[in-house]
Amino acid sequence: MDDRLTVLGIESSCDETAAAVVRAEGGRGMILASVVLGQTELHAAFGGVVPEIAARAHVEKLDHAVEAALAEANVTLTDIDAIAVTAGPGLIGGVLAGVMLAKGLAAATGLPLLGINHLAGHALTPRLTDGLAFPYLVLLVSGGHCQFLRVEAADRFARLGGTIDDAPGEAFDKSAKLLGLPQPGGPAVEAEARKGNPARFAFPRPLLDRPGCDLSFSGLKTALLRTRDALVSHKGGLTRADRADLCASFQAAVADVLAEKSARALAMSPDITAFAVAGGVAANETLRARLQAAARAAGTRFLAPPLALCTDNAAMIAWAGIERLRLGQADDLALAARARWPLDSRAAPLLGTGRRGAKA
Ligand code: KG4
Ligand code: ZN
Repeated sequence: MDDRLTVLGIESSCDETAAAVVRAEGGRGMILASVVLGQTELHAAFGGVVPEIAARAHVEKLDHAVEAALAEANVTLTDIDAIAVTAGPGLIGGVLAGVMLAKGLAAATGLPLLGINHLAGHALTPRLTDGLAFPYLVLLVSGGHCQFLRVEAADRFARLGGTIDDAPGEAFDKSAKLLGLPQPGGPAVEAEARKGNPARFAFPRPLLDRPGCDLSFSGLKTALLRTRDALVSHKGGLTRADRADLCASFQAAVADVLAEKSARALAMSPDITAFAVAGGVAANETLRARLQAAARAAGTRFLAPPLALCTDNAAMIAWAGIERLRLGQADDLALAARARWPLDSRAAPLLGTGRRGAKA
């Protein structure tokens, strides 16, 4: 039987306009093209993603991204078996732009339409890159999200815990801002931290005293602010060493908390095939090393997909579409765009979820 499937993926839930063509054959996926058009320069002056500007840019760029992806994959719409699009969660204007384009293409071609949860796209990526078998554990750490997900099937996810306030990437970004470092803050803080002493400042390790896998990062950022202010009022400013030590101590606290909570999530899931990480914060080398150590201690394989597939992209959306198609699922033209869309509807709602859908 011919099990070959070729799916066009579309992603526009935050500030990346992305399109991709992914082919699945014999159980494995192959990325034929993955186009990601960023918008960083459009938002730079505002210190964060401006939803209206993002939505307008998606409307302008989406069809170019799709054309570029089809051309790069050397296919036309007649070679495509289905159209997969991020239908949430995210900034609603951007999600709508993608969903409307996908609906237009589906209506014009008669191809099946698949609305994909953006978080499912991240969580299923290790199956595209490494063919992981279910169940496995994913830590999603990005600018907008932080959660432990037990992936039981392509359409079944259990959230073991998550942040009750800021996401780690958001904490890195805000901390960078407090120290006068450039955005995005994660890479800048990591570079400073390499030169600093992680033991100089004893920043809190929030929620370690509580059972379970929930996390909190907003207090950590406040502690950094207070320490910075105390140093400034004491010495009239920050030295280079102070800044590096603040970054190193902050990063050590984030890594400690994520490593300990990962150990707990791993202990709750003795039957998993691997522990995978996803999201932009997974680029952090200190953090990766700690997560890898936690997996090793639990006797589990650790997996970090290539960075271009950890950050927002449309290949993960196309792949999640392939997974849904294989389950015999599809949507119709009534597909709705959703700003909020928890992956695990059984889990208790979180008090907060980072930047509330800005970046996921
Ligand atoms: O996944 P991503 O590209 O966008 C979403 O949030 O979906 O992640 C971006 C986040 C930003 O907050 C950025 O500061 C953080 O990932 N980040 C890092 C590093 N590289 C990117 N955080 C810590 N260390 C890094 N090396
Ligand atoms: Zn994302």
